[in-house]
Amino acid sequence: MIQRSVIIGCGAYLPERIVTNAELAKQVETTDEWIRQRTGIEQRHIAADGEKTSDLALAASKNAISAAGISVSDIDMIVLATATPDETFPSSATRVQAELGMTRGAAFDVQAVCTGFVYALNVADNFIRVGQAKTVLVIGAETFSRILDWSDRTTCVLFGDGAGAVVLQAQDSEGTNRDRGILSNHIHSDGRHHNLLYVDGGPSSTKTVGHLRMVGREVFRHAVANMASVLVEALEFNGLSPADLDWLVPHQANRRILDSTAQKLRLDMEKIVVTVQRHANTSAASIPLALAEAVGDGRIQPGNVVALEAMGGGFTWGSSIIRW
Ligand code: UT7
Repeated sequence: MIQRSVIIGCGAYLPERIVTNAELAKQVETTDEWIRQRTGIEQRHIAADGEKTSDLALAASKNAISAAGISVSDIDMIVLATATPDETFPSSATRVQAELGMTRGAAFDVQAVCTGFVYALNVADNFIRVGQAKTVLVIGAETFSRILDWSDRTTCVLFGDGAGAVVLQAQDSEGTNRDRGILSNHIHSDGRHHNLLYVDGGPSSTKTVGHLRMVGREVFRHAVANMASVLVEALEFNGLSPADLDWLVPHQANRRILDSTAQKLRLDMEKIVVTVQRHANTSAASIPLALAEAVGDGRIQPGNVVALEAMGGGFTWGSSIIRW
């Protein structure tokens, strides 16, 4: 009998403060029109002073736990994807663990920047498949506002803060559960592209936190190619074609990247969950935030074939196929 990881609850949290493009146009030389046309972004949420990544993660986790109808004592493991942890150590996951009142199991962070959630889901799914965990809380949480150079118009308009979480649970894939759950994960990295997207700081290099640096046009080019190829890889692995997909929940970096992916795979844009206009790029949080929205409003239904895909600094990229 095969053990599959089934997502039994999703949760999201966005900081209260919304910053519009018009507000940013007062700080750097940009316009609402440029940002909308080149990225599709209209606004982003920004964490309050003192509001940390683990605070956003905790709020999203509580929502996911309540949607799943489990109690904290059921959770065996927390895997938190973030590139903006509260502190260099310990992991932000252990802070969420303490705040939830979870006193057993294990909690740790995973770092793959914008692909972080797909990596974290892959890690959690593997723990479930080998029988080392039954119930895992998987979180994507970021406060990119803390690492942006707010005087650099080419990057500061693109990102936002937020968190999303899912509860994964082991279920026997038989009877009514047949074929439900995560069917496969596919992750990749290529460290040669470091200089196209990185943060120019860190404890062992500069002793500062640093700021995000990106060669946008190059990242865009790789993002379109890698997101399309890793989705095709996942579909082929499962003997599926793009037409079999009910929903694509991609990392939300730029509306034009999503349009290009849709075009390349001849996917109907109606099947793509798009939140970039309201959330901007929230890195590892973007997929679980979009998932929570599409599950919450009833777009994603049991039995649906759902694909996740992402690409980010490293470069890293990856995809997952889930039968909901
Ligand atoms: O999360 C995964 C990683 N991130 C991504 O996937 C992001 C990928 N890249 C992108 O989304 C796009 O490349 C950007 C949105 C970052 C930039 O769009 P673009 O169409 O590639 O623009 P560009 O970098 O080629 O810049 C075009 C022009 C430049 O001016 P010149 O050199 O042509 O005079 C920029 O200086 O737009 C200028 N520009 C701006 N103008 C107004 C760049 N940023 C801004 C801005 N407002 N905020």
